[in-house]
Amino acid sequence: MADLVHILNGPNLNLLGRREPDTYGHVTLADIERRCQQAATRLGLAIAFRQRNGEGEIVADIHDAIQTGAAAIIINAAAYTHTSVAIHDALRAFDGLIIEVHLSNIHARESFRHKSLIAPLADGIIAGLGADGYELALQALAWRLSKDDSIEI
Ligand code: DQA
Repeated sequence: MADLVHILNGPNLNLLGRREPDTYGHVTLADIERRCQQAATRLGLAIAFRQRNGEGEIVADIHDAIQTGAAAIIINAAAYTHTSVAIHDALRAFDGLIIEVHLSNIHARESFRHKSLIAPLADGIIAGLGADGYELALQALAWRLSKDDSIEI
């Protein structure tokens, strides 16, 4: 059976395409989902793609990833990245791989975006590569998941 990857998106990412195009470009979340679905099919992965505006809803999605035995989570928690202890704690309970993704380079923006409460738990972080970041995260996961678990890279 294909490894399952939950791709979780936080608040305001449903507005991509209309929201601050100078920062986030014109790509919509539906475009990103389509690209992720195509990449997953190519890579032999299964995905569950979600977007939520509420912190508790994202926590519930992480619980769902735990319960469904997902192999990995790709998470762009958007603004909650910088504030949410609840999302941090939920991710701590997840045993699989975690990749943090941001469309923009959060380190080149306002100082309040430089801190991530997800970063200490992440196996990898991709920021500043726009929608490509999601596809690159899936490629990295396919690579990692196909390797022998006993080998650390
Ligand atoms: C974001 C960066 C966050 O700081 C911001 O709050 C977002 C989007 C990104 O993808 O670049 O909503 O996560």
